[in-house]
Amino acid sequence: MTLATKLGVSKSWQPAYAAAARPTALEREMAAFEAKSILVPLGGADWQRTSGHTFETNTAEDWATIERQSAIYHRDRQAREVLTFLAASKDEPSYGWQTNNYGHSLQTATRALRDGADEDMVVLSLLHDIGQNIAPVTHGEFCAAMLKQFLSDDYLWLLSYHTVFQRYHRFNHPTSDRLGREKFRGHPAFELTAYFCEKYDQNAMEPDYPTLPLEAFQAMVYRFFNKEPRFVGRR
Ligand SMILES: [Fe+2]
Ligand SMILES: [Fe+2]
Repeated sequence: MTLATKLGVSKSWQPAYAAAARPTALEREMAAFEAKSILVPLGGADWQRTSGHTFETNTAEDWATIERQSAIYHRDRQAREVLTFLAASKDEPSYGWQTNNYGHSLQTATRALRDGADEDMVVLSLLHDIGQNIAPVTHGEFCAAMLKQFLSDDYLWLLSYHTVFQRYHRFNHPTSDRLGREKFRGHPAFELTAYFCEKYDQNAMEPDYPTLPLEAFQAMVYRFFNKEPRFVGRR
């Protein structure tokens, strides 16, 4: 019984193979995949697996193991995975600009660095569009959520609203609401956000700009994610 059947969910959204009279090759492959236990390697040679397979069945000793090993596992992991995610977009094609999102990200960060911006601003600049292709409409909030533990309220606001402020620079766009940012005038982060967009972001598609490589920002990203977080745990 599938979870959808169990929960009485409408069949309309289920994949076509679920309704097929005979299992397709894909369905057989998926069933075989789901049937086998996926045993991944542990992060350390002397690490242990939990005896329980659910939160409810973990023993106190299991939880101690998880806490001990996860503290090691997560050290540097956020920085490493963010850098890996960004690096994976290096050779993506462009939809029209002279640079792709990877080149734009590096150029934005390079411009911030050369302008003497602080390290938080440089890292923010490097990562501001990291969600561009997986959360296009909400990519500012996407990045703000990712960096929430490590940035000031003004920098988080900048990330969330940079998409609105960017529109001001579309001088020749036929329909863009260039003055959409005006409803935020007076906000403590208004000028900061306007400056970021004008000096670092809207102009960071120059093909001949001497952009620094990702390696130039690597140590900075590690330092950023190893700062004392503003809060720990869920909010
Ligand atoms: Fe953006
Ligand atoms: Fe951008």
